[in-house]
Amino acid sequence: MSLFRNSHLISFIKRKITFNAKSFTNHPSRKQTHPSADRNSKPILEILQKVFDTKTPGLKLLEISSGHGQHTGFFCEFFPNIRFQPTEHDQSLLPSIEAYAKDASNKNVEKPFQLDVTQDFHNWTVKFEESSFDYMMNINMIHITPIECSEGLFRNAGRLLKPGGFLVTYGPYAENGVLEPESNVAFDQNLKSRNPSWGIKDIKDLKEIARTNGIEFKEYFNMPSNNKTIVWQRI
Ligand SMILES: C[S@@+](CC[C@H](N)C(=O)[O-])C[C@H]1O[C@@H](n2cnc3c(N)ncnc32)[C@H](O)[C@@H]1O
Repeated sequence: MSLFRNSHLISFIKRKITFNAKSFTNHPSRKQTHPSADRNSKPILEILQKVFDTKTPGLKLLEISSGHGQHTGFFCEFFPNIRFQPTEHDQSLLPSIEAYAKDASNKNVEKPFQLDVTQDFHNWTVKFEESSFDYMMNINMIHITPIECSEGLFRNAGRLLKPGGFLVTYGPYAENGVLEPESNVAFDQNLKSRNPSWGIKDIKDLKEIARTNGIEFKEYFNMPSNNKTIVWQRI
């Protein structure tokens, strides 16, 4: 399992390097894919179909750290009543996200823009009113960034979500000080060796950060490869 995680990481790094190289050689609109998104998109969709309202028109979703844009590109086809707003910290990934957005058959994906989630949303280049989103989504960012990114995610979600709106996060998590199985322990060590401020976060700590931002933990779903999808709700 740890080998799986490691090969997964190496593949992610290779793809990112490849993509960065390509972006300098004039392939600006090509959709990029990632093996982990290939694997987890359908299981995550099954959870979103339990959580999201599929009937009410005009709902809005903000995705933080869209990566290549593959998740939004896949999910938007199943929720024609929801407008997806992808965003990404890494500017070089925006052309791929935009390529997915352009191909959305429901035309329900906004142009992506660059943001740093540690920054207050008032400082983002695209401006939003408070309480303007029904949903927020954040996949595989929390463990691979410093805790400030989790704090920024919940802080901004506490302002941008409508009361009653849902934030959905996905990735590996510890629970009450317990990180298991061994493959997740090895993955956590690998992350910390790459950057000491990275690492798998504990749901208990995230609940505390959420609470201070007016967000409560609702439930989690165990997912393949020892990941979880967590549903949070703005109070
Ligand atoms: C492992 S990738 C996940 C990408 C995508 N969600 C997926 O699952 O394929 C982690 C993402 O976190 C993003 N990220 C890192 N620091 C960030 C920050 N300060 N604000 C927003 N996103 C950030 C990275 O740019 C990257 O896209």
